[in-house]
Amino acid sequence: MAGRNKITVVGAGNVGATAAHWIASKELADVTLVDIVEGTPQGKSLDLAQSAPIDGFDVKLVGTNGYDETADSDVVIITAGLPRKPGMSRDDLLKTNSDIVGSVTEEIAKHSPEAFIIIVSNPLDAMAQVAFKRSGFPKNRVIGMAGVLDSARMRCFLAEALDVSVENVTAFVLGGHGDTMVPLPRYSTCAGIPVTELLPEDKIDAIVDRTANGGAEIVGLLKTGSAFYAPSLGAVEMAEAILKDKKKILPCAVYLEGEYGINGLFVGVPAKLGKNGVEQIIEISLSNDERAALQKSAGAVQELVDILGV
Ligand code: LAC
Repeated sequence: MAGRNKITVVGAGNVGATAAHWIASKELADVTLVDIVEGTPQGKSLDLAQSAPIDGFDVKLVGTNGYDETADSDVVIITAGLPRKPGMSRDDLLKTNSDIVGSVTEEIAKHSPEAFIIIVSNPLDAMAQVAFKRSGFPKNRVIGMAGVLDSARMRCFLAEALDVSVENVTAFVLGGHGDTMVPLPRYSTCAGIPVTELLPEDKIDAIVDRTANGGAEIVGLLKTGSAFYAPSLGAVEMAEAILKDKKKILPCAVYLEGEYGINGLFVGVPAKLGKNGVEQIIEISLSNDERAALQKSAGAVQELVDILGV
């Protein structure tokens, strides 16, 4: 029997450590947690390992400040970088995080040349572009996590408004992970029924707005950092789809080459994830307004990518 899968999580802050937690409790893979801060990845891994007998998961947890222990990972989740502070946009993090993500990616590409990279660091779409360019990996192996989070937020708000199980609700969010993201109520459903049939327009508009500002809402509440439970689980859902070859369609930031009229840029669209990473990009028909909103969102990503020259 083949051994367990191995996931490296880079960044042992809230998002990284919580990702390690979800991976372990799902018994999805062995986890190597990496951070530059001495003691943090080691301490969090040890603590998590000591929870294993209580929960009953058998995975190996390693914390390290280097990359040797990350060797031959199947999936690498990159969360490294600075989080937002109140009043900061995701784009304010551009330069600092692009240096961090760039150098982390080079280490990963060296030690795990066959890995799938899932980017969580912000600004998300631009960081995915940095990782894609710096790794030299094919486009099916570099994916940004944003749409899973954004659509989960929308599902959460819709389920609350409809007073139904979250399991009944699907939601659809396109575009970059920024203020210009494009939640699509027309393609969001409750038990298969478009939510536009079930909720008045003003309620839907408010949910669309709250979704687009979902990250900032949490930054404003936490004051010392940004969201981490849902972002980390979003990344783990993507890793699981790949490792289990689920062929699951999820909204992901992927490198587009002509799809949706966008070229040479990471933008969030529905993608099928399986053992080959991004196995298909699903193109749906958009109304003129929706298409314009997506173009605007892609334009915002392009601006950041141009500043970085990647
Ligand atoms: C958010 C950050 C992680 O949306 O981008 O919460």
